Amino acid sequence: MNDTSMTVTGWRCATCGSEVPIATPMAFRCPNATANDPRHVMQIVSGPRVNPLERQANTFITDDQNLAWAAFAAAHGMDRARRDELVEELDKAIRAVDHVGFTATPFERSVELSNELEMSSRGGIWVKDETGGVGGSQKARFLFSILLHLRAAEELGLLAERPPLAIASCGNAALAAATLAKAAEWPLDVYVPTWMSDGFGRRLDELGARVHRSERRSDDPPGDPAMLRFRDAVGEGAVPFTVQGPENALCLDGGRTLGWEVCAQASAHGIEQLDRMFIQVGGGAFAAAVGAAMNDACGPVPLFAVQTEGCAPFERAWRRADGIEHPATRWADLMTVWDEPASLADGILDDETYDWIGVLEAVRSSGGRPVIASEQQVIAAHQLAHRAGFDASATGTAGLAGVLAARDEIGDDEHVVVVMSGVTR
Ligand SMILES: Cc1ncc(COP(=O)(O)O)c(C=O)c1O
Ligand SMILES: [Zn+2]
Repeated sequence: MNDTSMTVTGWRCATCGSEVPIATPMAFRCPNATANDPRHVMQIVSGPRVNPLERQANTFITDDQNLAWAAFAAAHGMDRARRDELVEELDKAIRAVDHVGFTATPFERSVELSNELEMSSRGGIWVKDETGGVGGSQKARFLFSILLHLRAAEELGLLAERPPLAIASCGNAALAAATLAKAAEWPLDVYVPTWMSDGFGRRLDELGARVHRSERRSDDPPGDPAMLRFRDAVGEGAVPFTVQGPENALCLDGGRTLGWEVCAQASAHGIEQLDRMFIQVGGGAFAAAVGAAMNDACGPVPLFAVQTEGCAPFERAWRRADGIEHPATRWADLMTVWDEPASLADGILDDETYDWIGVLEAVRSSGGRPVIASEQQVIAAHQLAHRAGFDASATGTAGLAGVLAARDEIGDDEHVVVVMSGVTR
């Protein structure tokens, strides 16, 4: 069944060009990705975005027509009313766990930040504040589209048994995963490094997640042991419930809601054109999804992909990819592991930018560039954000560090967007 009101029609791998129809259940990874050749990432294939006639309380309901999980459900005959109910049921269960659901998060001009950065009253620093969202960060949006896909598949009889969900993380993504899994009463295995704090472990326990401290085994190949155990679990049938596009492309679907919200909110504030968007880049799903969404919904807004001087694999790959039209085909040469990542912004110390293709495309097509913040700027931005009333971690204020790094080239009248995320715990 083809529902022509839905914009997403399928998936296409950026690396090998494989196409996967939208009706395919559990279309998480490229069919050609293997343990030896994991460098594939599926991207959403979509017609032009449909601008929602009116905004609903729930952002996933507002943008139903543009979401891949919904197009999947529609392709199997699930109608709009039932899709909306599914979102509402889960949202209600999430509120019971976390007191908040997927309503649009605030987007406001920060007077303090605009003044401190000496922006004029015509322009300023506009903050998308994710700290009060589900799980205290943007991560839950990425996981909610995976969960909706799974719940839809279950209801449509395309998923006979519930495989466990699996994630390797000891930060905001793990917390978001545990919150959603508890709400859906779906078992979740969280693979964490041995050094994870006991306090964080207790929070995951309270949410009912099964926490696995992952020690390095003598026969392990190089790499993060938590990630190796996660991959083993997925190999045995667990669902990759993760915010990394190459592991599960469906995460990029829900992440786009943040960009769409910003475009709608900017226009409601009477802003005709946003001038720059700064996003902190760890694994890269955040910048890839938001960049793609903003290119769709508000025309190209130059995207500045912010990394720290202590870990900047995306910026390095960007330079290496200069003049190369299809960098995905040269993935292994261009995106290489960063030795000894270090920064106070410890949530973006991913030694590889897994979603670098999506980030690169969004940065190139919007006319932005990568920015490296010095460690001093990372610290200054964190302090500045707290003075301005944002209770975010140094990871979640790192986009602002990028603004400090690029301030000289920013006009005083510009509208500059940063995302504050990752509430301090
Ligand atoms: C608060 C916060 N901001 C930004 C990021 C970066 O997101 P991504 O890893 O998708 O680049 C993370 C996640 O690692 C995060 O927790
Ligand atoms: Zn592929």
